[in-house]
Amino acid sequence: MKVLIINGSPRLNGNSSKLVNETINIFNNEGVEVDNYQIGPKAIRGCMACGYCHEHGECVFKDDVNELNKRFESSDGLVILSPVYYGSANGSVVSLLDRLFYSSHFDKRFKVGAAFAIARRAGTVATFDELNKYFTINQMPIASGRYWNNGFGREQGQIEKDEEGLQNARVVARNMVFLMKAIKDAKDKYGLPIKEDVKFTHFIK
Ligand SMILES: Cc1cc2nc3c(=O)[nH]c(=O)nc-3n(C[C@H](O)[C@H](O)[C@H](O)COP(=O)(O)O)c2cc1C
Repeated sequence: MKVLIINGSPRLNGNSSKLVNETINIFNNEGVEVDNYQIGPKAIRGCMACGYCHEHGECVFKDDVNELNKRFESSDGLVILSPVYYGSANGSVVSLLDRLFYSSHFDKRFKVGAAFAIARRAGTVATFDELNKYFTINQMPIASGRYWNNGFGREQGQIEKDEEGLQNARVVARNMVFLMKAIKDAKDKYGLPIKEDVKFTHFIK
């Protein structure tokens, strides 16, 4: 059982990384393998809607995204973290996630998702909603916690004083492990739900 973590923070030892560590401790204790990726200061460009991925099943830009798609495909769960920038997820994580989800065509159903937003003061709820949308358009159940997953701090390390945020991260990680195990058992017992051919309806009249 494996979890892929995508940490969108450019700061290598920032508050998001501290929150990641809190979840990793739980995953390690529960015997879940962790694949921990951070965007860091890398330049990740946005989708240019070229359609290359429709034919080739991967993004035209040969950067971390194509590699991450393989890592995502072999994972049972995905954790996404973003620092809040101007009330939203930061630009690099949105660029990466748009391309990651759009360019890949493997079955993401019932991989478990969890998202966290980290801020100095405001914008975490909007960012949490924004990140969860990648899961809910892909039939991925969400592991929730006892708050709308956030963590607070400005300077690197300040989140360590946010006891509630870190506790919530541990709760979410435990719930995620439970869901991944339960889904694995259910898949073995019942198989996945029937998949219909996708219909596209465009509102252009
Ligand atoms: C460009 C920029 C915009 C930011 N916008 C917000 C914001 O809208 N709300 C907020 O509470 N904090 C904002 N912050 C503060 C960061 O969210 C905060 O420092 C957070 O801890 C960063 O996480 P990290 O250490 O994982 O990178 C902003 C920081 C930067 C650099």
